Amino acid sequence: VILDKDGRMVNGVVFDAVNAALADLCREFRELNTGHLATYIPPLARADPSDFGIALTSADGHRYRAGEANKPFTIQSVSKPFVLALALSELGAAEVFRRVGAEPSGEPFNAISLDPETGRPANPMINAGAIATTALVPAATSELRFSRILETLGRFAGRSLDVDEEVYRAEAATGDRNIALAHLMRAAGSLTGAPSAALDVYFRQCAILVDATDLAVMAATLANEGVNPVTGARVVPAPVTVQVLAVMATCGMYDGSGDWLLRVGLPAKSGVSGGLVAISPGRSGAGCYSPLLDAAGNPVRAVAALAELSRELGLHMM
Ligand code: DON
Repeated sequence: VILDKDGRMVNGVVFDAVNAALADLCREFRELNTGHLATYIPPLARADPSDFGIALTSADGHRYRAGEANKPFTIQSVSKPFVLALALSELGAAEVFRRVGAEPSGEPFNAISLDPETGRPANPMINAGAIATTALVPAATSELRFSRILETLGRFAGRSLDVDEEVYRAEAATGDRNIALAHLMRAAGSLTGAPSAALDVYFRQCAILVDATDLAVMAATLANEGVNPVTGARVVPAPVTVQVLAVMATCGMYDGSGDWLLRVGLPAKSGVSGGLVAISPGRSGAGCYSPLLDAAGNPVRAVAALAELSRELGLHMM
């Protein structure tokens, strides 16, 4: 059987078991209408609550998709592991984890919680830790810092990415908790540089546009030890992917991380716009889009569908 890069047979007949399995999951879990849209950033409240897209990229570059897998949305917190990967590549694990912890916080993603002694955030997946991690990316100016982040996320996705300017502006206009966090970290000495500059880069980073298919390729690059399996380009060194996946496994699904690890058993990261990545190391990366969120802020349909997929394909790590 010869498959092309989109996972279809190229010898005439189009029959694709993986695409069929994803289409089944889409049909089954689209019915799941529980959860709520994120409304604290006004444009996110306009998402279509019925959307559900799921995509899978194998570690050897075959791509599969079903549902709204090509619908653009802003990446939000799903950017955090990829920016962590960039910071780790540039500075090394010792320096990054000296500045930002690697322990689950047991609190919501936007909690105003920092180490009382040092001001150090608990981990790079909650907002405080992500703002601090973004600020660590070496660059002469915040414009250059954002360009490096945008370019790196594009290398993970295998195409150049853009920013949704409306979401960026809305994020900046409503980001009081993030603004407070950045100032607290600056006061405690855990954030270097001006809070406004760090926040501007973080807000732009959250507003980068992707679709579920991009997220699957980004996830597959982490699954494939840092080499994008579609473009063949090395994006980050292999040891960095191990560090990123370890942090994702314990902290990626916020306060739902324990339940997720129990049910799905894969390193993952979710975001408030409904994006989710999950990585099966050495095998594949999944990307989902489903804007209805559960109480922990995780996309309801994506969590349910990936639990099923993990069972069907035997992906649970344990
Ligand atoms: O920092 C924020 O508020 C958002 N722009 C990103 C947060 C996010 O996606 C958290 N996810 N659950």
